Amino acid sequence: MRISDKPVAARLAALGVEIRPGIALKDLTSLAIGGTTDELLIRRYDTLPDVMKVLKDEGIPHKFLGGGTNVLIADGELPWVMLHLPPAHPGVRIEGNAAFVDAAADLGGTVTFCAKHDLGGMEGLIGVPGSIGGALRMNAGAYGTQIGSYVREVELYRAATGLNEILRGDDIRFDYRHTSFAPGDVMLRVKLELPPKPYKDIVAGIRVCNEKRRASQPLNQKSAGCIFKNPPGASAGRMIDELGLKGLRVGDAMVSDRHANFFVNSGQATCAEMLRLIDDVRARVHEKFGVELENEVIIWKN
Ligand code: EPU
Repeated sequence: MRISDKPVAARLAALGVEIRPGIALKDLTSLAIGGTTDELLIRRYDTLPDVMKVLKDEGIPHKFLGGGTNVLIADGELPWVMLHLPPAHPGVRIEGNAAFVDAAADLGGTVTFCAKHDLGGMEGLIGVPGSIGGALRMNAGAYGTQIGSYVREVELYRAATGLNEILRGDDIRFDYRHTSFAPGDVMLRVKLELPPKPYKDIVAGIRVCNEKRRASQPLNQKSAGCIFKNPPGASAGRMIDELGLKGLRVGDAMVSDRHANFFVNSGQATCAEMLRLIDDVRARVHEKFGVELENEVIIWKN
């Protein structure tokens, strides 16, 4: 979708929004899949309520992209514009045991930045790709750690009120790969409270997690991490593996031959191919195990 109306573009520019026309979203996602649309970079968080009002008044559909590491985006020209907070480096400020982190900051970068200030706890999250905002929204977790455990406050834009607000950590539910944030909420900043730990101990923990991850996951291939959530008490990866589906392909979309719950883009895979692969694997798992796998990856169709 293109913002071709000059007065609308001028109103957005006055609010600090940079419009990047015709961006290929496959260049912004870890799966390297996704069609084309205008990208709107929101440079000032305080203007977000006004930006959202312009989009609403003008009837411009939109979606918010975080790190692009857990999303499967449709092919072709997309019927919505993409909103994006510009990457923040490092986007972290430390005060005592607290880290104040911008939503656009990189999750792994945040873990190492905090480690350098002798603040630990998040070692398990080190290899999880993506932004802090995305990690918060889905309560990213690995190796027994989930980000929600450390959240004390979240600043966010709420579509329900049209305002930027601050929520207390206690008022947010963090479950397995799920949170109580509303679909229209946009993460802006978070206050994490982290346990003090010597840098060298944190680094030792990070090494262990990195080794485990390298041994079991296809880190050098284009993926969105695990495609399905694990059903209670079971592993989606193990079930898909037991069905002998590693290496199964639809075009260039392929079940990883390393970890069966990672679906990789082995070349020029399209969204349509990936969706067919997902549906096929889900149906086979259902037939054999009677379990309906739920997507972990977020799918944006057009
Ligand atoms: N397994 C297989 N074959 C496979 C993959 C796994 O037999 O192809 C077996 C493993 O041998 C192990 C069991 O299944 O006995 C569980 O595997 P693993 O330890 O790799 O964990 P997982 O449940 O597949 C979860 C998260 C990962 C996270 C790891 C480590 C989900 C959906 N996945 O994977 O998160 O990194 O644990 O904590 O919760 C993600 O969310 O995108 C993700 C990668």
